[in-house]
Amino acid sequence: SSSTTSNYADPSRYLLDHPNNNVPPHIAALVGKGLHLKPNHPIGIIRSKIQQYFASLPHNYAVYDAEDPIVTTTQCFDDLRIPPEHPGRSPSDTYYITDTTLLRTHTSAHQSEHLRSGKSDAFLCAGDVYRRDEIDSSHYPAFHQLEGVRLFPQEEMVGAHGLTGEEWTSSPECQVIASHLKETLEGLMDHLFGETEKRWSEDYFPFTTPSYELEIKYEGEWLEVLGCGVIHEEVLSMSDRADRRGWAFGLGLERLAMILFEIPDIRLFWTEDDRFTSQFSEGKITKFVSYSKYPPVYKDIAFWIPETFVENDFFELARGIAGDIVEKMELIDEFTNPKKGKTSKCYRITYRSMDRSLTNEEIDVLQEELRARVEDLGVEVR
Ligand code: PHE
Repeated sequence: SSSTTSNYADPSRYLLDHPNNNVPPHIAALVGKGLHLKPNHPIGIIRSKIQQYFASLPHNYAVYDAEDPIVTTTQCFDDLRIPPEHPGRSPSDTYYITDTTLLRTHTSAHQSEHLRSGKSDAFLCAGDVYRRDEIDSSHYPAFHQLEGVRLFPQEEMVGAHGLTGEEWTSSPECQVIASHLKETLEGLMDHLFGETEKRWSEDYFPFTTPSYELEIKYEGEWLEVLGCGVIHEEVLSMSDRADRRGWAFGLGLERLAMILFEIPDIRLFWTEDDRFTSQFSEGKITKFVSYSKYPPVYKDIAFWIPETFVENDFFELARGIAGDIVEKMELIDEFTNPKKGKTSKCYRITYRSMDRSLTNEEIDVLQEELRARVEDLGVEVR
């Protein structure tokens, strides 16, 4: 795997003139920032703390932190048994560069190549991932994940040789892997949070079975922190490792960092404001001291939507015009006119800057541009 990330920051890698390209410039500008590799950034601090835990275990985990965020649909989906019609593959959810290349939507996109290479039977892989999504204090279209994979020695799995489906998942060998996975991740949570309340529930991923999610209790609330499971035997056989069995997990670094550093807004991770960046240092989990927020400006927009309306296109259009000062976009009213059979939606947009006061006049200019350009989505502004 590559050891340099410098060319990843070149936006022209992502802004190809291709009919399937839906990467806007404000997203291309985020790629290659390498927040997970910055030693004094909360995302980098958490990444090293997790790797430090795995380094303390008796088994050796290889580390891959500088993989290319551009992956193929094969790597991101097909190799992981994610079917062609899965909503996560649709251009309303995913940033495509061409019809067959995209900004990875999860670090699981690197599982198969590392399995296939056969270089290590256990590895960790961290990086930035991209999903078209709403924006609010806990959702941002770019975030970071850390993936872990562990294969077990063939000798320990002889009893399971050739088993598939239910026969495999109900075998003692599969149980051994699932218990090892859970113990390993519980240990990781204790390493990060001290003794903390945890609970497991069943989950579903096409590439693991059985699959689980882990929640931890934080300030009285259960928060999902990761997804994991026993690697599906078809994922292994597609990677030419049909003789092996193992587990995989993927966790979101922002979620963990927001809890541990008490960072209230996911957008803060991307700010270069030194009132933020100067607060963190390598190896230390410290509580974020918030600096004063500037006042918001609210604007509403209402329109009749066509049947083909894709909400993420509207969210992204607004961000393309106004950038990160779009703090929040919420649907505040929706109704269908029974005679016309048409539906109207009204959204409230909260504009706020992290580093200055906005004027009503400058926001009116942006809102006017949004009203004009939203017509390109086939809506009729009211
Ligand atoms: N890739 C999954 C996600 O992004 C997480 C995951 C990783 C689940 C590995 C199982 C195994 O939600």
